[in-house]
Amino acid sequence: MVKTMIYAHRGASKLAPENTMPAFELACAAGAEGIETDVQLTKDQVPVLIHDENLRRTTNGTGFVQDYTYAQLRLLDAGSWFNPKFSDTYIVTLDEFLRWFKNHPMFLNVELKTNVIEYKNIEQIVYDCLKDHHVLDRTVISSFNPDSLTRMKKINPSVETAFLTSTNMRNLPQYAKSLGTDALHVKHRLLDKKLVKRCHKQKLDLRIYTVNRPAMMKKCFKLGVDAFFTDVPHQALEYRQLYKE
Ligand code: G3P
Ligand code: MG
Repeated sequence: MVKTMIYAHRGASKLAPENTMPAFELACAAGAEGIETDVQLTKDQVPVLIHDENLRRTTNGTGFVQDYTYAQLRLLDAGSWFNPKFSDTYIVTLDEFLRWFKNHPMFLNVELKTNVIEYKNIEQIVYDCLKDHHVLDRTVISSFNPDSLTRMKKINPSVETAFLTSTNMRNLPQYAKSLGTDALHVKHRLLDKKLVKRCHKQKLDLRIYTVNRPAMMKKCFKLGVDAFFTDVPHQALEYRQLYKE
């Protein structure tokens, strides 16, 4: 019986514009167990769901998220770049997303995008929002920035955190453990049997990103990783159903 859970990476981001409500709704409709999303802060300190610091790739705006208020960002089109039929899609706040999410029985991974810009106080702002919506018990907070994770644990040591990396450093599980984190989220090319064993020995969950190819999905199932992030949750769920080992 395969136990690997499937998280929709930025929502079902192959079917709808990443990190938008249509992508999250499609992930839920597909039956994904979890949703992964990225958080940045606006000029007026509103946590918003967008992957890039810059607006260029996924909206019709220019410049940086941090230089606009949410009222300004709300006017942008965050869907046409993907497909004109999503032209009324906008950048959603973490609060608006959670008002929808809290009524759906899924897990959540909030990735703090603090590796390029260290948004002041983002950890407390995100924590408060998750707490207000009573979803902390099914949320893991991840970041490529270890300082961000340390700050999150200081706010509340029982918050689940995960260290994110694409770097094959020595003793990665020990390092994650030394940061006080509960899980390791690693790029797929770092996955091997030894890593799974070491993580589980250290009582760390191991989740893999971004897994879109059947061969890598199979590897995750076979090695017993705890979860993977995929842009195609509908395909991953079908594939997991077929995989019986
Ligand atoms: O959290 C897994 C993955 O989302 C990390 O990379 O760049 O897709 O946010 P990225
Ligand atoms: Mg991410």
